[in-house]
Amino acid sequence: MSIFIFSFLLLSVCHAAIFDIVNQCPYTILAAAIPGGGRQLLPGKNWTIFVNPRTDDARIWARTGCTFNSSGYGRCETGDCDGLLECQTYGSPPNTLAEFTLNGFNNLDFIDISLVEGFNVPIEFSPITGCNHAIQCSTNITGQCPDELKTSGGCNNPCTVFKTDEYCCKSGNLWAAAIPGGGKQLDKDQTWTINVNVDTTGGRVWARTGCNFDSSGHGSCETGDCNGLLECQAYGKPPNTIAEFALNQFNLDFIDISLVDGFNVPMEFSPTSGCARGMIQCSADINGQCPTQLKTNGGCNNPCTMFKTNEYCCNSGGCGPTNYSRFFKGFCPDAFSYPLDDKTSTFTCPGGASYKVVFCP
Ligand SMILES: *[C@@H]1O[C@H](CO)[C@@H](O)[C@H](O)[C@H]1NC(C)=O
Ligand SMILES: *[C@@H]1O[C@H](CO)[C@@H](O)[C@H](O)[C@H]1NC(C)=O
Ligand SMILES: *[C@@H]1O[C@H](CO)[C@@H](O)[C@H](O)[C@H]1NC(C)=O
Ligand SMILES: *[C@@H]1O[C@H](CO)[C@@H](O)[C@H](O)[C@H]1NC(C)=O
Repeated sequence: MSIFIFSFLLLSVCHAAIFDIVNQCPYTILAAAIPGGGRQLLPGKNWTIFVNPRTDDARIWARTGCTFNSSGYGRCETGDCDGLLECQTYGSPPNTLAEFTLNGFNNLDFIDISLVEGFNVPIEFSPITGCNHAIQCSTNITGQCPDELKTSGGCNNPCTVFKTDEYCCKSGNLWAAAIPGGGKQLDKDQTWTINVNVDTTGGRVWARTGCNFDSSGHGSCETGDCNGLLECQAYGKPPNTIAEFALNQFNLDFIDISLVDGFNVPMEFSPTSGCARGMIQCSADINGQCPTQLKTNGGCNNPCTMFKTNEYCCNSGGCGPTNYSRFFKGFCPDAFSYPLDDKTSTFTCPGGASYKVVFCP
């Protein structure tokens, strides 16, 4: 069996982890890694990359059927990353993925092989030291791919081909909500623009899921519901990931993403003009990893919502990080994980900037 093998070495928090990427396929592939870039690997050749501790949402994959010119531009039949030899973004399906998060929740490394973006090349993913749990997907699925999923060089995941909730497990549409602003159903890739007073404080944007509204705009949502109204006049009900803002305070805009009301959908919050700072984001799929005690329909509750104790809610005086807040912080280092988490979670822009909130970035 020819296998494209990834192996990796577990080291302590302060050192980079080493990944040896080995091509055991009988043909040349272009290996790709985020973070890491890309490298052509002839059969039997390997490529070693060093990945910083605390790296989230990292991926290694193989690209096949590639042609590139001498400046590193071209195209691959599978796993292509915007036509670059040195990938800066994830690849296009189909591609078998070795996924990992280093020093995540409880300082553990999380690893998996994913076929959620289909299959192109068999993979084995194994620790070299520190742990003896090898995982693999070594069958050549391409040869047995159902006709409807077949594509050049691989086998698509049904989500890629049919794009339905049944296969993609995410509701195609969300009901956006904003205070001030109201609310609106948003289909995939649809945009809603709101104009907010330049000195608004206590502003919030969030997504609602699992909603049903009648023609008069009354109904309910599973997450983020605002008193049953389509056009919100009050904040939403937990769990909901929240983009918060206070504009023009001492000539600065203060922005953050908060998980203090739990998590429902991944989010990105970024200035679009008037501010040099990059985006803040909480893009991990927290729902998939939510501790049992915090799980709820459509989301993952914050422990304050569940247990209502001062330890988690900081109602009277001080409180600090807890094992649960570390769970949230591990996935979304930019976001508020408990009420007094300001230091690493509040960001500023010059007053007057414009912003964009993206759900499911
Ligand atoms: C990678 O290649 C080098 C040099 O060709 C070799 O010494 C090393 O054993 C290889 N590593 C793996 C993991 O195959
Ligand atoms: C490679 O392709 C890119 C993008 O098409 C192009 O801009 C560049 O000039 C090409 N380089 C060479 C050496 O052909
Ligand atoms: C997997 O099967 C496909 C088609 O059956 C073939 O083209 C490809 O070379 C095979 N890959 C490996 C790694 O054997
Ligand atoms: C957090 O600590 C509580 C109390 O010690 C325990 O019941 C719970 O399982 C822990 N949660 C996690 C996610 O470790």
